[in-house]
Amino acid sequence: MTLETARLLLRPFTTEDAADVHVYASDPAVCRFTEWGPNSEEDTREWLEDAEAAGIPAHWAITLRDDAVGAAGRIPAGTVVGGVGVYGENRGPLDASPSIRELGWVVRRDLWGRGIATEAVRAVIEALIEQDELEQVHARCRPEHKASAKVMAHLGLSLVRRIENDVERDGQWMHSDLYALSLAR
Ligand SMILES: CC(C)(COP(=O)(O)OP(=O)(O)OC[C@H]1O[C@@H](n2cnc3c(N)ncnc32)[C@H](O)[C@@H]1OP(=O)(O)O)[C@@H](O)C(=O)NCCC(=O)NCCS
Repeated sequence: MTLETARLLLRPFTTEDAADVHVYASDPAVCRFTEWGPNSEEDTREWLEDAEAAGIPAHWAITLRDDAVGAAGRIPAGTVVGGVGVYGENRGPLDASPSIRELGWVVRRDLWGRGIATEAVRAVIEALIEQDELEQVHARCRPEHKASAKVMAHLGLSLVRRIENDVERDGQWMHSDLYALSLAR
């Protein structure tokens, strides 16, 4: 299954995507607010094996439909430049209702600020709206993560509440802001 937008094609990840994924998954700036990373090559390979096995709708690879120009020059069409994760139950403190999905997103750093996350996540939400049993999507971000809060606003997700000490990484606890969107049909 694929999703197409003006500039992007979203498709399942495969283990062939390791080099592309590692560009962002190993980048400390990308991982500043994430629960994972920066990845070793081994981490990325293992994650991709899981992502390939889980498939759609759990993990969407964001690929470019046309060439783009990034910090290190041309990024060819077809490159995986990020991902959208769709998580079901068993996600931490969230309501474990089967009618809720939690979304997460990442884009490689040299393409930030071009609307790629907003465009990709919007397409995933539109696909989720087609699933009759789903009522809400949730997403969490660290309170100081302005870019992600912007993506929430662009997509119409509203702030629900702050979750104190929600995520632990390297012995440090971080708060999260929980956002939600009703999938009104
Ligand atoms: C969050 C992330 C996916 C956004 O990707 P993106 O493709 O740049 O997102 P978009 O361009 O669609 O939207 C980002 C918005 O934030 C804005 N922005 C970026 N940095 C900002 C900052 N420091 N302060 C305020 N706004 C900021 C951009 O200008 C843009 O707003 P605009 O569309 O009104 O111009 C990207 O920054 C990323 O991958 N970060 C690392 C991984 C991560 O933290 N993921 C989210 C976990 S909750």
